[in-house]
Amino acid sequence: MPDTNVRPESMQRINTPELAAAFIDEQIAAIRAQVGEGKVLLALSGGVDSSVVAALLIKAIGNQLTCIHVNHGLMRKGESQQVIDVFGKELGANLIYIDATDRFLDKLAGVSDPEQKRKVIGAEFIRVFDEESAKLNGIGFLAQGTIYPDILESKGLKAHHNVGGLPEDVNFQLVEPVKLLFKDEVRCVGKALGLPDSMVYRQPFPGPGLGVRCVGAITRDRLEAVRESDAILREEFAAAGLQGKVWQYFTVVPDFKSTGITDGKRTFDWPVIIRAVNSVDATSATVEEIPYALLHKITQRITGEVKGVNRVLYDLTPKAPATIEYE
Ligand code: XMP
Repeated sequence: MPDTNVRPESMQRINTPELAAAFIDEQIAAIRAQVGEGKVLLALSGGVDSSVVAALLIKAIGNQLTCIHVNHGLMRKGESQQVIDVFGKELGANLIYIDATDRFLDKLAGVSDPEQKRKVIGAEFIRVFDEESAKLNGIGFLAQGTIYPDILESKGLKAHHNVGGLPEDVNFQLVEPVKLLFKDEVRCVGKALGLPDSMVYRQPFPGPGLGVRCVGAITRDRLEAVRESDAILREEFAAAGLQGKVWQYFTVVPDFKSTGITDGKRTFDWPVIIRAVNSVDATSATVEEIPYALLHKITQRITGEVKGVNRVLYDLTPKAPATIEYE
């Protein structure tokens, strides 16, 4: 028996709408054959991989699929809403939306060590997912957005796909329709399935979300400053035609304040750090040379619109010596 976790050498690279359509037809047949009348559960984060798997399964088995979207409160602005709009409303999926913001932020209160923060987020995610799936009857299958680099990586040590992963000891059979695909192929399939570009070409986003960009112990007000400044940055990059051209860009709010002045009065507020990098596989990265005029505009908007911020900094450090994220 061939190892189903090994990509056959004969497998064609999926890089045209026709090849994507053929892959979709093939997988629909394979999913139906595997699942039969069974019920399937999927943790839908809104990332490219789980979104493509959701869209494929909806096409293949419709309401036999149940998606759970856990909002851990560390999502970017508008992202959970997009999951609800695209999958719940447009595609008519069985979607369970859990706003677990308070649970996560309560657990994270006062936790400043980066690894500890990741552990808390990962453990809480599994707890919420377990609780919700226990309420469902007759689930026999768990769908996952595993892609080929995850399989290659897990032969070493699975780095950090998903927020901490899903429970390992589940009694479900796995459904992993895109496990032999590379990222660009998953995007090609997503496009052919009709998912919006903002989902298909989404920049890499860490499982622990904005949590690792709210440096140190997370507070609600500083997290809001991360979210709002990130939204402005993304909006301005899109308006300047940089969306999809710069590999990863985001804002970070460190846990210190400095003096400023607004309307003749002294302020004592946080800085926002802008990070914009190019990379191929995240092992190294160079800094994007953003035009000064754009940096000025973003600075003006962030200091004018984001509460608690009086300064904007631009990080000029490549990876290495810095990492892409701050934690
Ligand atoms: P670093 O900061 O190590 O990041 O240079 C490399 C890439 O990995 C992403 N990243 C993560 N992704 N969970 C994830 O799913 C994580 O905990 C995590 N930490 C970093 C980061 O955004 C970058 O693309």
